[in-house]
Amino acid sequence: MPIKLTIPMPDDWHLHLRSGEMLRKVLPYTSGHFARAIVMPNLPSPVVTRHDALTYQQEILRYLPKGKSFTPLMTLYMTENTDPNEVRLGFLTGEVTAVKLYPAGATTHSNAGVKDLEKIYSVLEVMEEIAMPFLVHGEVVDTNIDIFDREAVFIETKLMPIRQRFPKLKIIFEHLTTKEGVDYVLSCDQNTAATITPHHLVINRNAMLVGGLKPHYYCLPVAKRELHRLALVKAATSGDARFFLGTDSAPHLTTAKESDCGCAGIFNVANAIAVVTQVFENENALNQLEKFLSINGANFYQLPINKQRITLERFSESQPIPEDIKTAEGIVKAFDPMMDVCWKVV
Ligand code: NCD
Ligand code: ZN
Repeated sequence: MPIKLTIPMPDDWHLHLRSGEMLRKVLPYTSGHFARAIVMPNLPSPVVTRHDALTYQQEILRYLPKGKSFTPLMTLYMTENTDPNEVRLGFLTGEVTAVKLYPAGATTHSNAGVKDLEKIYSVLEVMEEIAMPFLVHGEVVDTNIDIFDREAVFIETKLMPIRQRFPKLKIIFEHLTTKEGVDYVLSCDQNTAATITPHHLVINRNAMLVGGLKPHYYCLPVAKRELHRLALVKAATSGDARFFLGTDSAPHLTTAKESDCGCAGIFNVANAIAVVTQVFENENALNQLEKFLSINGANFYQLPINKQRITLERFSESQPIPEDIKTAEGIVKAFDPMMDVCWKVV
């Protein structure tokens, strides 16, 4: 059993940084452990144009702790009015790395999302041509579909037709949560990949629902049954090039989560790498860790693997859960994985 592990600095391929005071408070956790992150565009007023993306990127860079070389990779929020030329220009200039699809109403700040997928076909055509990644929140929103089935139904009714129509489009199925999702990705060629979160690797829906209602384990897509968690662990630890880390770290104030209508989202970035490393150790798969954390995502995005390196140390005792964050507006709770985590980034 190695006591220390040194790997290329990881990237976070799915991250919510927010803006203003929240951004200022959460950013140091990301810039301490990650070289790059795909920054989600679901601000209250979504990031829809190149100008929005540049303004947001400048705000992030302003809050970056001194001496950190973190790169925020910007995304556009797909709407039914997204201009294919804006997308093309954004990608070719390097200002924008990907476009994110939120089905309208699927999650936090998704009201401006897409209702009719055919309305975005002209954008997808351009993205396929220029090999720009299309990031998908893969859940249907029909009220008559059970929330635990929304990912599986999305695959059959929405994703498969898109894939058929755009066979070369680079699709990333974001925050995969089901065995059906894993099986679907494995059935595709190398143009389909998926991000997996730390929390979906360690919790199932019991964490949220057994022994009292636990709002800090509520996120979207919602955690599923144990069999789905096991499928995700198998996929992540397999080393398969199509699976990589996206923390989906999504900070909300405790007041917004502990409420009659609590927000979805888990703030996990402070212990994301440690938790994932523990999962790999438990699966006897530490030799695949750097693929999941540092290599597969960069390759899929056709970006260089980071030259910087980080070291993880394994202690004989479980390490404390990171402290909650205190902001001027209130507290953000850090993710408690409910398991021993002996690893720490040092
Ligand atoms: C995200 C958020 O709060 O922005 N919430 C979440 O539960 N993951 C949105 C999202 O990625 O669905
Ligand atoms: Zn997200």
